[in-house]
Amino acid sequence: MSENIVWHNAKVSKEDRRKLNGHKSAILWFTGLSGAGKSTVSVEVEKKLHQMGIRTYVLDGDNIRHGLNKNLGFTPEDRKENIRRIGEVSKLFVDAGVFTLTAFISPYQEDRDMVREMVEQNEFIEIYVQCDIEECEKRDPKGLYAKARKGEIKNFTGIDAPYEAPDHPELIIENDRQSIEASADQVIDYLKEKGYID
Ligand code: PPS
Repeated sequence: MSENIVWHNAKVSKEDRRKLNGHKSAILWFTGLSGAGKSTVSVEVEKKLHQMGIRTYVLDGDNIRHGLNKNLGFTPEDRKENIRRIGEVSKLFVDAGVFTLTAFISPYQEDRDMVREMVEQNEFIEIYVQCDIEECEKRDPKGLYAKARKGEIKNFTGIDAPYEAPDHPELIIENDRQSIEASADQVIDYLKEKGYID
């Protein structure tokens, strides 16, 4: 960290912002294989929350890698830096009083735990979007599994790079066994049950 840097406090707090919004704020961290449905479920959850008058924002792997993280690749080090930056950005959104939905493969438990540690307890909700690799490969919406099998993409998650399934997720979504609608409802029900939203 740079020296001679002093934290500057704002006059409006996270609690003030939450009060104005009329709801809490937290990170909904979707993790899972490429093609598991992280983006699809997260945008569906966002739509439902928005319709309920809740402030939201989605950070998505492909989109963030076009801008903020365009200098990062897929080595374990780059993935860690990708997740670290997303974690810091998400923390700012939570401070702004917004429900932040993130859709990143985030294959390493250690990296997901790093983000969990960045925020307060109850501000990080890890959601495992579970889908068998066979099903993801069958779906192959972007044709990336086919390329990875041919060796045209290196370090592809699930093929020649690991995916560590979460060992203590707040929620598991069996996205290969239910509709997107049902998966999104599962998240909304969880948020209601835990008192995040009414
Ligand atoms: S990570 O592991 O969290 O840093 O990855 P993420 O930022 O979510 O980016 C994943 C998307 O990048 C595309 N892509 C790859 N994924 C995995 N491995 C390799 N080598 C790779 N190369 C490109 C792919 O489209 C991922 O999008 P999703 O939506 O997960 O399919």
